[in-house]
Amino acid sequence: MQRVILIVMFGLLASNASANMAESKVCQKCHPVIYDEFYDSSHRKSSIYTDPIHKAVWDKHPLKEEEKYSCAKCHTPADLELLEKLEAGESALPQRNNAQLEEGVSCVSCHTIERIEEHAKANKNIFTDKEKVLYSAREGKEGEDDVSFSRNSSFFGMVTEKSGSPYHKIDFSNSDYYDGKMCMGCHSHKENAHKFAVCKTDAKHDPSDEKNCISCHMPLVKGAMNTVHESASHRYHGFTGVADKPKMLAQYVKLDLSRDETGFVLTVKNEANHPLFLHPLRLAELQVSVKREGKEIDLEPVSFARVIGKDGKATMPWIADSIVKDTQIQAKESRAVTFTYLLKDADVVEAKMGFYRVSPKAANGLGLTDKRLSSFTLLKKERFEIKK
Ligand code: HEC
Ligand code: HEC
Ligand code: HEC
Ligand code: HEC
Ligand code: HEC
Repeated sequence: MQRVILIVMFGLLASNASANMAESKVCQKCHPVIYDEFYDSSHRKSSIYTDPIHKAVWDKHPLKEEEKYSCAKCHTPADLELLEKLEAGESALPQRNNAQLEEGVSCVSCHTIERIEEHAKANKNIFTDKEKVLYSAREGKEGEDDVSFSRNSSFFGMVTEKSGSPYHKIDFSNSDYYDGKMCMGCHSHKENAHKFAVCKTDAKHDPSDEKNCISCHMPLVKGAMNTVHESASHRYHGFTGVADKPKMLAQYVKLDLSRDETGFVLTVKNEANHPLFLHPLRLAELQVSVKREGKEIDLEPVSFARVIGKDGKATMPWIADSIVKDTQIQAKESRAVTFTYLLKDADVVEAKMGFYRVSPKAANGLGLTDKRLSSFTLLKKERFEIKK
């Protein structure tokens, strides 16, 4: 009986051809916890139908006139039909289909990246053409490239031990899934038509670094990784970031205070191996207040941004040919911010480091009216009690 079910399952798989071998919904059956996290993540919500910010920029983008949704390569790689049209030079505009609404950067598009090809304009994901094979990482299995489902019976068939997945094979031998390089087909950089890098993660790719894209943005959280074998934890698939659970990243931002003759210095340390914020729409801000004798005094907030534009003025990304201003806190940088405000004993300084997902100015320009997208979100808060 079991045999029959397995054959039927693989039969189903084979008819669905490699890269788009399955919709994420199929994975949900055995990976429900991971699926739920993914469903709420910005990887699922990355199309013009599911991300209002992406839509606002696309609506103003000159490629819309040309009917070339080239954003698909990174934003909706599961929409193979659209990608084929793009490749063939035909009109390729997103349609309200399942890939756009339910998949975005889908389970399969992430787990079938065989390697990353490096290019100046943007890197390219090369997907495996092996059927039913998914890449993954697991300590101790680095050498296994073809893990299939098996059952081992012992005690005359009374105890069966199952291993592998009954639905797919697993290739554990791809090092890009251990050091985070598999993220860099989409997250490395993107140049516009003026050969200007609109965004750049500029990650110091150091394999000896203990922390990488995966360990920081997919921390181990409670809950089983699948429904077949027990496991206490799994890698978080909501992807901590600006849109989801920024506070889970707070531990990588350190705030410190020291006093000097003219006031005090707040140091913001970014432990990420990339600039603290990456997308040109973001605005980071340090808000500081001093509590003294029951009163609270707000000091002038300090902002950090990478502003892109032309002729010294901020512009939309497709017009930009240069950096107008870059005060973003860089990879592993400790930024000292000076406040000319003399502290007294028993003062309490409260420092809040946070961000606007879309800077209020840009939100205005884009006609984004949902205030939640352009209001201050807290990343890290620290209180300093001033003593002698
Ligand atoms: C090379 C891959 C790539 C291409 C091509 C690409 N993007 Fe993106 N885009 C990304 C990544 C990665 C992010 C997330 C970056 C981050 O949050 O720092 C992103 C984020 C965005 C955001 C911010 C979304 C948010 O919710 O805050 C907007 C807006 C956006 N892209 C617009 C576009 C448009 C419009 C196009 C096509 C004209 C496009 N992108 C093409 C990779 C790409
Ligand atoms: C019929 C159940 C089933 C379905 C459907 C299924 N999986 Fe799995 N999957 C498993 C099991 C069981 C394991 C654990 C294998 C092991 O422990 O050796 C697994 C393991 C994995 C792993 C490797 C985890 C590791 O050990 O690092 C990945 C990645 C994965 N599945 C992704 C997917 C994706 C993506 C889909 C949808 C295309 C999918 N799975 C559909 C049962 C399933
Ligand atoms: C040491 C931990 C750490 C490592 C390693 C790390 N990040 Fe981050 N990342 C952060 C922190 C902290 C932030 C800023 C807080 C936030 O986004 O809420 C961030 C933000 C981001 C954002 C959102 C930025 C924006 O402007 O929208 C993206 C996308 C991102 N990281 C991708 C990556 C990728 C890809 C890698 C691997 C090259 C990586 N990160 C490595 C900690 C890390
Ligand atoms: C943005 C890329 C991305 C997406 C989307 C994605 N994954 Fe993953 N997944 C990873 C990475 C990276 C890892 C950690 C390394 C590894 O085990 O492959 C991982 C790990 C896993 C694991 C092993 C979990 C563990 O605790 O080790 C399973 C199972 C899995 N993914 C299934 C899925 C399923 C099911 C979906 C869709 C619902 C999905 N993934 C979507 C990148 C992704
Ligand atoms: C196939 C392309 C692709 C791959 C592979 C990919 N991403 Fe993304 N990622 C995107 C796009 C596109 C977005 C922005 C979606 C949006 O908001 O419209 C994004 C968003 C994010 C965000 C949320 C940023 C925010 O503003 O909140 C984080 C964090 C992130 N990715 C981390 C990763 C990590 C870590 C990996 C590797 C394990 C990875 N991504 C692999 C395309 C990709």
